[in-house]
Amino acid sequence: MVLNTSRNKEKNEIEEKNNISQKINNSGDDIVIETVKLNLWYDDNHVLKDINLKFKKNKITAIIGPSGCGKSTLIRCFNRMNDVIEGCKIEGKVLFNGENLYDKNADVRLNRKKIGMIFQKPNPFPMSIIDNMTYGPKIHKVEDPKTLEKIAEKCLNRAVLWDEVNDRLEESAMSLSGGQQQRLCIARALSVEPEILLMDEPTASLDPIATQKIEELILELKHEWTVIIVTHNMQQAARISDYTAFMYLGELIEYGDTTQIFEKPQQKLTENYITGRFG
Ligand SMILES: Nc1ncnc2c1ncn2[C@@H]1O[C@H](COP(=O)(O)OP(=O)(O)OP(=O)(O)O)[C@@H](O)[C@H]1O
Ligand SMILES: [Mg+2]
Repeated sequence: MVLNTSRNKEKNEIEEKNNISQKINNSGDDIVIETVKLNLWYDDNHVLKDINLKFKKNKITAIIGPSGCGKSTLIRCFNRMNDVIEGCKIEGKVLFNGENLYDKNADVRLNRKKIGMIFQKPNPFPMSIIDNMTYGPKIHKVEDPKTLEKIAEKCLNRAVLWDEVNDRLEESAMSLSGGQQQRLCIARALSVEPEILLMDEPTASLDPIATQKIEELILELKHEWTVIIVTHNMQQAARISDYTAFMYLGELIEYGDTTQIFEKPQQKLTENYITGRFG
C-alpha cells in the first residue's frame, strides 16, 4: 500500500515534469526557430538524428553535450553554413519565423543577415575597427557615411565596447585584446540588424574577466535578440540561459527550462553529463 502510494507519487512527478517540458516545447507563437525531424549526414556519418527543437524569442538557449555530439553542426544548420561542406546531406526542416530555411525559394542571403554567428575564436577582419563595423552594412547597401558612423557607434555601444575604442577606431582590430575582439565580433554581427545570434563557445578562448563581460553582454542582448549558445561550460549554461538542450551522439536527449535540466534532469544521460560523469 505504502509502496503503491509512493510509486504513484513518483509517476505523477514524472508526468508533471513531462508536461512542463512539453509546454515549453509547444507553447505559443514566440518561437523563432524550429527544427522538424532534422537529420544531417557528412557522407556516411549520421550526425544529427531527428532533431525536433523550438527556440523562443528573446530567450537564451544553451546547447550542451559532449564533444562530437553535433552541437556546432546543429547551429550551423540555422544559417546554412553546412551547405558548403562537401558530402553534407540534410533532411527535415528548419523553420525561421515559420518559413523553411531549406525551401528552394528561401532567400539564403537575407536569412544569413538575420541570423548572425559568433565563433569560439574571435575572428575580426584584418582591417580597422571602424571598417569591421561598416563592412556588413556596406554589403547591404548602406552608403551614407553619417549613417554608417551611427550604426558603428550604436552597435559598439550595445556590445559595451564603445568607451574602450572610440578614440582608436582607425586602428587595426587585431590590436585589440581577445575579449575586446570578441565584443567587436558581436558588435559587427549586430551591425546588420540580425534577429538571432548563434554563438559557438564564444568564451572558450577567453580569460575569466573577459568571459564575465561577454556573459553580461549576452544577458543584455536577450532583451532585443534571441541567443542560441553552445557551451562546454556547465556553470555558464546554468548562469545565463533560460532553456537548455542536451545532445548526445547526434540526438536531442532532453530539453527544458535550465533550472529543471540542472536541478531535476529527467534523463539519466543528462544527469550523468551535468554531474561530470562523462564528456
Ligand atoms: N566539416 C565536416 N566534415 C565532416 N565531418 C564533420 C564536419 N564537421 C563535423 N563533422 C563531424 O560531425 C560530428 C559532429 O561534429 P560537431 O563539430 O558538430 O560536434 P560538436 O558537438 O560541436 O563538438 P565539439 O564540442 O568538440 O565542438 C563529428 O563526428 C565530426 O567529426
Ligand atoms: Mg563544436
